[in-house]
Amino acid sequence: MTHRPAPTDIDIHPLLAGRWSPRAYAQQPVAHEQVVAVLEAARWAPSAYNVQPWRFVVFEKGQDAAAFERAFATLVPFNQSWNAHAQVLIAVLADTLTAKGTINPSASYDAGAAGLAVLLQAHALGLAAHAMGGFDAAKLRDTFAIPERYQALSMISIAHHGEAEALPAALAEREQAPRARLALDEIAKFGGWPESA
Ligand SMILES: Cc1cc2nc3c(=O)[nH]c(=O)nc-3n(C[C@H](O)[C@H](O)[C@H](O)COP(=O)(O)O)c2cc1C
Repeated sequence: MTHRPAPTDIDIHPLLAGRWSPRAYAQQPVAHEQVVAVLEAARWAPSAYNVQPWRFVVFEKGQDAAAFERAFATLVPFNQSWNAHAQVLIAVLADTLTAKGTINPSASYDAGAAGLAVLLQAHALGLAAHAMGGFDAAKLRDTFAIPERYQALSMISIAHHGEAEALPAALAEREQAPRARLALDEIAKFGGWPESA
């Protein structure tokens, strides 16, 4: 497997620095208990008023291959191409409505936090996990009769790590390329937004 720790400017927790989005997956099954553990991690994410607007539709190849295949079919062709060995697909949904039926303005923020918890717990378990926006949300809704109030935000695939060399050349290269981020002074303004920016 490829280790790709973030080349951070200062030390951060190894769990955060070590998480990345692999595409080289092995064929080995992922234990159901590990799937439950990543969902438990998501359960403890923070949310506005502790509303917990995240919902997950979970597809395990080893438990229900037919449902997994139907979920896999919602991925865009590029994502299908490198997910052939994926063992688990998790659709991350946000409940867009409050108990009163009004719009919950924090739903996506909170469900995104829960999605990150899935990625981090999977990484902590030594698994490969990769979030994807490249899927057909309407097809997912139709296929699995997901009610309108729930918005599908991402699909997360999970597998055991495979070898980058097994990927097509272009993807193998991306798999091992240096990781890049905006500079800290581009994303964080101390003391207010600078007038000149
Ligand atoms: C909401 C979201 C959607 C993404 N969609 C895709 C996708 O459809 N296909 C893909 O290969 N990667 C996808 N990614 C992965 C990003 O490309 C990746 O997180 C980014 O390049 C940073 O790399 P890192 O996660 O390894 O640090 C997505 C990530 C997020 C958070």
